Amino acid sequence: MKILARALITIAVLVLLFFIFLYSGFYNIGATSPHNKLTLWVISKLKDNSIEHHSNSIIVPNLNDTAMAAAGFLRYREMCVGCHGAPGVKQNEIAAGLYPKPPRLYKSIVDLTPQELFWITKNGIKMTGMPAFGPTHTDKMIWNIVAFMKKLPKMSASEYHSIEVKNKLRYVE
Ligand code: HEC
Repeated sequence: MKILARALITIAVLVLLFFIFLYSGFYNIGATSPHNKLTLWVISKLKDNSIEHHSNSIIVPNLNDTAMAAAGFLRYREMCVGCHGAPGVKQNEIAAGLYPKPPRLYKSIVDLTPQELFWITKNGIKMTGMPAFGPTHTDKMIWNIVAFMKKLPKMSASEYHSIEVKNKLRYVE
């Protein structure tokens, strides 16, 4: 009985401390205040496992179609390059102030599967600046972006630049 009473008191005290913390405003919500190591570990496990779980049954279309990557480039240039950069292209000021900072995709996505790239682009990532493009884009458009992203890790700055020059006046309708 005594043990049960002690356990209940401990829980009540912890709940009380949690609410005091919640209402005190003590926590720094600013994007300039990084998470501690434990929070970072929890978030990264939650993110990696969630993305893997939700994306593993997605069926991948043939991504080796050059027209798909070409269409994907136009959307990447319009919507992604500011935050994620590209070979030879710097990230913008919004990216510099975000926490977590958007990774330079051409370096970071090497180990991500096409399913994962598709799922992330379609659904976004909660509590980061990564938007969901599913509400505004069809699956076909998102696969085009994935087809282009898959080419990024092997692309040189001059290759990216030449695609940009070739498409200078082309806009996404
Ligand atoms: C406003 C900034 C912003 C824009 C615009 C944006 N992203 Fe992101 N993106 C982020 C952030 C921040 C993360 C990192 C999230 C994290 O650390 O969990 C991210 C993560 C990702 C990842 C996971 C990368 C990895 O290495 O794990 C992919 C893939 C991605 N974005 C694709 C895209 C695509 C494709 C577009 C354009 C259609 C896009 N993003 C536009 C901010 C942005």
